[in-house]
Amino acid sequence: MESASDVLKRIFGTSQQSSMGAEIADLTQRYKRLEAITFPKPSSTRIIAVANQKGGVGKTTTTVNLASAMASKGLKVLVIDMDPQGNASTALGARHGSQDYSIYDVIESRHALSEVFQQCPDFQSLTVVPASIDLSGAELELSDVQERHAVLRKILNSYVIEHPTQFDYIYIDCPPSLGLLVLNALCAAKEVLIPIQAEYYALEGLGQLLHTISLVQHSFNRTLSVSTMLVTMFDKRTLLSREVFDEIQKHYPKIVLNATIPRAVKISEAPSFGQSIISYDPKGAGSVAYLEAALEIAQRSVQVDEENIRRQHASDEPQANNGDSDTRQEGTVQ
Ligand SMILES: Nc1ncnc2c1ncn2[C@@H]1O[C@H](COP(=O)(O)OP(=O)(O)OP(=O)(O)O)[C@@H](O)[C@H]1O
Ligand SMILES: [Mg+2]
Repeated sequence: MESASDVLKRIFGTSQQSSMGAEIADLTQRYKRLEAITFPKPSSTRIIAVANQKGGVGKTTTTVNLASAMASKGLKVLVIDMDPQGNASTALGARHGSQDYSIYDVIESRHALSEVFQQCPDFQSLTVVPASIDLSGAELELSDVQERHAVLRKILNSYVIEHPTQFDYIYIDCPPSLGLLVLNALCAAKEVLIPIQAEYYALEGLGQLLHTISLVQHSFNRTLSVSTMLVTMFDKRTLLSREVFDEIQKHYPKIVLNATIPRAVKISEAPSFGQSIISYDPKGAGSVAYLEAALEIAQRSVQVDEENIRRQHASDEPQANNGDSDTRQEGTVQ
């Protein structure tokens, strides 16, 4: 008579093994394809704020891993940590104690941006501007400054004008709030990338974020566009994850990336080793997913350039003509 374990093996064993085998084969194939592909360079530096006022949705993980994925493919990337928690600095192996120079010193005009650069130990073309807990004081200190929303913009603009080919991408990791630090990031950026966690409350708060971004567009930064949404912590075994992705794709078809980031233990482990998933587990599911997302972003550069030119033209027109239409333009918030 067949034993219970034989029955279980017969029913589940082979099919599980074969589906796991198929998954590994699929991952290997995707990795090989990525290995063979050259990531296109943008025509000018793309400055992307990674923002969502919701905590723990994967902003820092996304910033760190997209930046590392691009750097691993030879693109020149700068990550600016604008979060006093300093998590992006930790994950990229940057020193960020109170004695280390950081973005706080730049905002307070004590140092130039390039004076606080640190090279990421894992990737030659990845530079980090770290943040330390001192940055939390900047919210208060900036509140007295004239043009307090535009402090980071002035710093970045003058850097990029002086060094137009230094970086292909500048990512700004935002804290989970809609305060002055995030406002500075949104004013300095040309694009916003919104990571959305695949969970039940995913879309709650998104409306408020988009509303805030449209206020920034109207008042301070007419050329800002929401260029990218990325679904994070996606669990393909659950219907909920699929539903969240479908819902976002229905509302924002031109913005959401086809790549989704799986929920994976290794992704959450990597920062404790001061590493990105790209260096910690280069061929794993998390690394492949972030490389695919990075490739999609890089391949959209032409589209983003066209959008920027269109927005630039629109913002040059008299205000009465472009006021309300800004947030409804294709490819941005719809
Ligand atoms: N794809 C993933 N799989 C597993 N864990 C993940 C994944 N993405 C992020 N995490 C974990 O979820 C937690 C929150 O991620 P992360 O710090 O990137 O979010 P955040 O939006 O930057 O948070 P905060 O709002 O505090 O800045 C972290 O512990 C991180 O390691
Ligand atoms: Mg974070």
